[in-house]
Amino acid sequence: MARTQVRSTLRFLLNGDRVELPNVKPDETLLDFLRISRSLKGTKEGCAEGDCGACTVLVGRLSNGVLVYDSVNACIRFLGSLDGTHVVTIEHLRRPDGTLHPVQQAMVDFHGSQCGFCTPGFVMSLYALWMKNPMPSDQAIEKALQGNLCRCTGYEAIMKAARAVSTYGQVAKDPLKAERRMVAAALSALADGSRLEIGEGKERLVLPADVDDFARVMETEPQATVVAGSTDVGLWVTKFMRDITPVVFIGHLDGLKHVSEADGVVTIGAGVTYTDAHALLAKRIPALGPLIDRIGGEQVRNMGTIGGNIANGSPIGDTPPPFIALGARLTLRKGKKRRTIPLEDFFVAYGKQDRRPGEFVEAVHIPVPARGTKFAVYKITKRRDEDITATLGAFHLTLAKNGTVASIRIAYGGMAATPKRAKAVEAALLGKPWNEATVDAAISAYDADFTPLTDMRASAEYRQMVAKNLLRRFLAETTDSRPSQVRRYEAA
Ligand SMILES: Cc1cc2nc3c(=O)[nH]c(=O)nc-3n(C[C@H](O)[C@H](O)[C@H](O)COP(=O)(O)OP(=O)(O)OC[C@H]3O[C@@H](n4cnc5c(N)ncnc54)[C@H](O)[C@@H]3O)c2cc1C
Ligand code: FES
Ligand code: FES
Repeated sequence: MARTQVRSTLRFLLNGDRVELPNVKPDETLLDFLRISRSLKGTKEGCAEGDCGACTVLVGRLSNGVLVYDSVNACIRFLGSLDGTHVVTIEHLRRPDGTLHPVQQAMVDFHGSQCGFCTPGFVMSLYALWMKNPMPSDQAIEKALQGNLCRCTGYEAIMKAARAVSTYGQVAKDPLKAERRMVAAALSALADGSRLEIGEGKERLVLPADVDDFARVMETEPQATVVAGSTDVGLWVTKFMRDITPVVFIGHLDGLKHVSEADGVVTIGAGVTYTDAHALLAKRIPALGPLIDRIGGEQVRNMGTIGGNIANGSPIGDTPPPFIALGARLTLRKGKKRRTIPLEDFFVAYGKQDRRPGEFVEAVHIPVPARGTKFAVYKITKRRDEDITATLGAFHLTLAKNGTVASIRIAYGGMAATPKRAKAVEAALLGKPWNEATVDAAISAYDADFTPLTDMRASAEYRQMVAKNLLRRFLAETTDSRPSQVRRYEAA
């Protein structure tokens, strides 16, 4: 076996400069580096948890040889993860002669800025959108700005600016487009195929050379924190001051970024972001498209991975319940050995997953619902966009020719310590006619399946009621019936 080459200097491009850093703390954020070490103070800190977008920057990377720029939250992105990328901050937009970038000029002309604190973040999000979609619809603009909050201007002025950007300049002439060959060549030169290791002992950070190398690193350092998109782990540092060291970054590993379909099963590598999984999932399992669109804002979806959503074991992660309802399986790998288990078995208890020391999540396999089966997922939150789930229900139903329930899988998030199936409810429905009388009779089984908690997102009583109502909604949407039994929740 050839020895892996090891490098000990982090290298990336920052605006027009090449950066080389021999000393990087594993938990140093990109935002701190920009503002404190580089005095690039245009990038702001609002929330430090990926919600407000004031810290938005672009990160360019080579994806199958093509240079792609995504908006990301610098506040929860770790500096160490940026090896081999091109980081673009607001300071890079104005031309040397002082001419504003088309996005900036549109924001000025349409009064899209008042106190200005959020403005660099909005500009960067709109810049990312403009490069991908120069003539966006209002829906596309709103989606691109889901992760940017403004407390004073009001969004209409920003929308007007966003609609007008293309009248201020041509995307093809934008420096990031016009100079993409040069930047791509510089990034290829940085990609030397080596493992990056900086620091020693607890202060160590590692970027494995490839997936096999990752497997080796995990065997020797099973206690290290794996960081993919850092949209969970970033907050452990910025909000909870947790010590996450040593760290193994995996967001750069192409070998974990595959999305494919074979024999009616979609396989998603653990390193695939929501953005990159969206097209195939939305096409093959349409209910998942709108669900993914409600996970964080664009910046979070550009960083966060489906593997991370599963591996963190959260009871309110949005992808496990629908995947469990579809009968998904999970591949875990340790060294060269792999095992594939039903996804639902991965979630053992609160904070406890069936992941052995040195093992990592490699891929999830999601069966596409067969023709004629019915599948739906409902996410209940306090506000529509960029909010964490209070309760989420996923339903997968097959009816027999005579209209009875031939099979049904129901899974919920936010109802127990783990994502969990409603097995008592399923049993009460199985073999019965799919109608209101059957659902009414099955409703009491919810009390056997779930004893939800009260927390800041919802009360236990609300959760139990909404979970029951989601079954009634699924019935209504899959039959011609109008439910007479949907209970309204009234706070005590
Ligand atoms: C503003 C904001 C909004 C959000 N909104 C939502 C939402 O609406 N719905 C939702 O479900 N989530 C939401 N999240 C949470 C988060 O985005 C998701 O859980 C995301 O999928 C985590 O993926 P990641 O790659 O960022 O994981 P990371 O933060 O990198 O890691 C998460 C956990 O998984 C582990 N891990 C990651 N990859 C692997 C692997 N391959 N093998 C073993 N362990 C691994 C890490 O060690 C860590 O324990 C939000 C987060 C933010 C900041
Ligand atoms: S500072 Fe609010 S998203 Fe980063
Ligand atoms: S202009 Fe003040 S927060 Fe947006």
